[in-house]
Amino acid sequence: MELKDVIFKRRSIRKYSEGIISKKEIEEIIKAGMYAPSARNFQSWHFLVTESNEDLAALSEIHPYGKMLKNAAAAILVCGDLNIEPSPEYNAINCSAAIQNMLLIIHDMNLGAVWLGVFPREERTIALKEFYNLPQYILPIGLISIGYPAEEPAFPDRFKPERIRYGKWGE
Ligand SMILES: Cc1cc2nc3c(=O)[nH]c(=O)nc-3n(C[C@H](O)[C@H](O)[C@H](O)COP(=O)(O)O)c2cc1C
Repeated sequence: MELKDVIFKRRSIRKYSEGIISKKEIEEIIKAGMYAPSARNFQSWHFLVTESNEDLAALSEIHPYGKMLKNAAAAILVCGDLNIEPSPEYNAINCSAAIQNMLLIIHDMNLGAVWLGVFPREERTIALKEFYNLPQYILPIGLISIGYPAEEPAFPDRFKPERIRYGKWGE
């Protein structure tokens, strides 16, 4: 796919048809995450892959807006490491850059995904830390639900020239 198509034609996919995603594909997706920029190049991320139907169904109950996980082929929890990057906020920024890279390569692979927010919601953080048995210094930032697309959302025009300012505000 052309880079422009990857960027402008990616949409969140919440309906999936059946199919397995190979380990090679999962690692390609995570590799894209690992090539994201990060503050001071700390690369303070970890990736937890869930593939079992039982665990995906459990996650779909844990995340308040994650019902689609029940029919997903896989989920990837992207976490920050507070031992590498002590600031939760920088972990959130680093992991968000990784997540966006992952969403883009997933689209390029003709798979579909949606980003499920975790940080800074405390109740989701607590629930996911418990589910994944995360140590205290591992901070869950976002969960990605992935599968074979069973919907084709439209691509609405989001370009808003009025949001662009050249020079200072108000000039
Ligand atoms: C931080 C963040 C949290 C999100 N959380 C959820 C979520 O919990 N459930 C969901 O279905 N979509 C979630 N989304 C996806 C957004 O709803 C989606 O990106 C937005 O509606 C724009 O649509 P698009 O991704 O198709 O361009 C989240 C996106 C971001 C960036």
